Amino acid sequence: MTTVAARAVGTEADRVEGLEKVTGRARYAFEHPIEDMVYAAPVPSVVARGEVIAVDVAEALTFPGVIDVLWHGNAPKLERVGNAELHVLQSPRVAYRGQYIAVVIAKTLEEAREAALRVGVEYAVERHDVGLRADHPRLYRPERVNPDLPADVQQGDPDTALAAAPVTVDAVYRTPAEHNNPMEPHATVARWDAEGLTLYDSTQGATSLRDAVAPLFGIEPSSVRVIAPHVGGGFGAKGEPHPPVVLAALAARRTGRPVKLAVTRQQMFSVTGYRTPTIQRVRLGAHPDGHLTAIVHDAVEQSSTIHEFAEQTTTPTRIMYAAPNRRTTHRLVRLDVPTPSWMRAPGEAPGMFALESAMDELAAACGLDPIELRIRNEPEVDPETGLPFSSRNLVACLRDGARRFGWADRDPAPGVRRRGRLLIGTGVAASTYPVYRSACQATARAEPGGIFTVRIAAADIGTGARTVLTQIAADVLRVPLGRVRVAIGDSALPRASLAGGSSGTASWGTAVTRACEALRDELDRRGGTPSTGVTVSVDTTEENGEPSRFARHAFGAQFAEVGVDRDTGEARVRRLLGVFAVGRVLNPKTARSQFIGGMTMGLSMALLEESVLDREFGDYLNHDLAQYHVAACADVPAVEAYWVEESDPHLNPMGSKGIGEIGIVGTAAAVANAVHHATGIRVRDLPIRLDKLLT
Ligand code: MOS
Repeated sequence: MTTVAARAVGTEADRVEGLEKVTGRARYAFEHPIEDMVYAAPVPSVVARGEVIAVDVAEALTFPGVIDVLWHGNAPKLERVGNAELHVLQSPRVAYRGQYIAVVIAKTLEEAREAALRVGVEYAVERHDVGLRADHPRLYRPERVNPDLPADVQQGDPDTALAAAPVTVDAVYRTPAEHNNPMEPHATVARWDAEGLTLYDSTQGATSLRDAVAPLFGIEPSSVRVIAPHVGGGFGAKGEPHPPVVLAALAARRTGRPVKLAVTRQQMFSVTGYRTPTIQRVRLGAHPDGHLTAIVHDAVEQSSTIHEFAEQTTTPTRIMYAAPNRRTTHRLVRLDVPTPSWMRAPGEAPGMFALESAMDELAAACGLDPIELRIRNEPEVDPETGLPFSSRNLVACLRDGARRFGWADRDPAPGVRRRGRLLIGTGVAASTYPVYRSACQATARAEPGGIFTVRIAAADIGTGARTVLTQIAADVLRVPLGRVRVAIGDSALPRASLAGGSSGTASWGTAVTRACEALRDELDRRGGTPSTGVTVSVDTTEENGEPSRFARHAFGAQFAEVGVDRDTGEARVRRLLGVFAVGRVLNPKTARSQFIGGMTMGLSMALLEESVLDREFGDYLNHDLAQYHVAACADVPAVEAYWVEESDPHLNPMGSKGIGEIGIVGTAAAVANAVHHATGIRVRDLPIRLDKLLT
């Protein structure tokens, strides 16, 4: 294959669907106009554990507009395959508060919601356990943690090394449950016809949703079509399928009518996943000069009783720093809670809060600058596998960030910089995210009039994926951007991996590159005639299957400045600056948005986000945007994102690493470290609320 000079890749191309979005023509899941539509309103469980012993639908059925009420006694039967969370209305068991017990289908949304309040449910209530504790008697070691990694890894003898270390840090860090709040709540329009099931859905992956839903209904994936041209944010919440999409499909099957189901913001807090709370103990052993001799990172997390979700909290610690003796572990407890799921950098975000806070504590203990401490512990190769890094530019990010941020003249003493009522501090933390890539298919076609169409079931959840794929295709085809159409967001297109694990562009872009290369070669072979109507198809399964001889990870450095009000304890971020090493940046405009979005979400994680569990009722009680605080514009100061040049030939044809998640990683630690620098108070328990700073 020949290489082509990049013309579109690397430029700040505008979003190709930008005009459609700002003029309101872009259709999101709930907006697809379908004839004969009816509406579904779910009935959530009001107990956290027990059994439904009776459902009284009589009153609801008398309400105007009501077409039907489904519950486990009359719902169509599903195949009990895959994630049990999706076996909606199949059993009287209640596994968590908010679990769907019934659904009302009515002619209007208002009628459905009104009648849903009149469904009488009688429960045999059992005592629930929703309390995560590090000494919970039912803690266990999962077989694997996500995406498919060993739960525990050990090298050397960390216990002996810790006991012998001249300098040690031993601290427990906690992160709360957090909920994704994309602008567009989850929504589905489900329709059955002679061909099968069509789902207009807010999903991060049309192919994977199709493949998950089909077996539940005992039908072939080819009988399910998922259409999702535009998705209003996901962050992982729309990555795994959740109960609402199955409920909509059940309701449509039973009534024979197309059914619309939009999850309310409140119900998103129980049925669409969340970030598990964590309790993490980090132990570091070091020489007085800062060289680490031992790293131990143990995480405790939760899952539900019906599905194991084992987050990979301590896995970034496996690759971050050199130390001959090391151990990372994960323990889970299955509680009467909703099943956790993915939330931007699941694992890395909470895990790096703990590790990078501990590194800051070690820097103070050794009397070393925290950047210098990290540089001294930079590993030559991946400390876990011994593989060389395909590229690793953490040090370059730290140095470039230090220069841009103005780190050089920083006084390390905590609690001494005053500006009026404010105590000012600065902090730094490293970030990292693995490089993933999945197999995909794609087609490329030469159309009449010099237009080229690329087809792949990729997803653009607001990231700019459609635009970047258009740039990639245009360069390989050696044509201007305007001559390329990229069709995505439909499972009828060639199968694609989902927008998750920061792997979308790497996975889809590889398939798009290969398809466009093959088409170009085919057109060249046919000679100069207008060869329209030529289509080629590719599959990257084989190419993707080769195991890498390299450890592949993106890195970054996060810098924060905070001001803490001495009288009120209120902490505010004044500046955030990130420098990232992510391979080649394909579109600086959309990439910058991803970094800034991730960093903003990290700021939000540091200071605001916390899903508070109501122990008595067993669910998350602050389940709306008035009570669950997400950073708003006034909370977000100047956020600057930069990247270092990084040329890495061991990734994919574009030379790119993922950029969707690394922006959130390390941000919370940088803020917490800055708060410590400002106040002298080490907050190890997120979020950093004012009550933790009033002493
Ligand atoms: Mo991302 S949390 O892998 O969708």
